[in-house]
Amino acid sequence: MIQFKEIDRKNFWDVIDLKVAEEQKSFVASNLFSLAQAKAYPECICLAIYADEVLVGFTMYCIDEDDHEYWIYRLMIDEKFQGKGYGKAAMEKLIEHIKEDSERNVIYLSFEPENSLARSLYEKLGFEADGRIIDGEVVYRLVY
Ligand SMILES: CC(C)(COP(=O)(O)OP(=O)(O)OC[C@H]1O[C@@H](n2cnc3c(N)ncnc32)[C@H](O)[C@@H]1OP(=O)(O)O)[C@@H](O)C(=O)NCCC(=O)NCCS
Repeated sequence: MIQFKEIDRKNFWDVIDLKVAEEQKSFVASNLFSLAQAKAYPECICLAIYADEVLVGFTMYCIDEDDHEYWIYRLMIDEKFQGKGYGKAAMEKLIEHIKEDSERNVIYLSFEPENSLARSLYEKLGFEADGRIIDGEVVYRLVY
């Protein structure tokens, strides 16, 4: 069962210790960077991902200040816990949460074009190409 928890003094050090595989490092910013970004961009909401009370990953989303739409900016599952369904389950839970906001109806995200695992995960969740490439990343959207 996936749970989200805020990042506070109880889990901060464990969240920054979460790591993706070496060859995935170019696909996602470090959690240290994301937490620092969220301090400067307070619209960013950071969540630690737990599976049955075990910390397995991190996500960050926001209502973007430029377009006023939801963006999932980060998703990572620690390499030790990848391939167990946690990334997909966490995305499903986050999407369900965002969908509760009936004032909006689209979620955006972006990924490096060579990140085929992320692409296929997002397509399975119903995201489709939006046609834009921003800073070299492919933009996908889910209309809800
Ligand atoms: C992308 C990422 C979050 C996926 O998380 P995960 O927990 O490993 O993914 P899941 O176990 O939920 O698997 C999702 C799907 O990918 C498939 N998959 C997972 N690992 C795979 C692998 N190594 N090879 C092939 N397929 C794989 C699963 O079979 C699943 O498909 P299914 O639902 O049809 O069975 C994770 O790999 C990650 O943190 N990657 C590095 C950071 C990153 O790229 N983040 C996204 C930036 S946009």
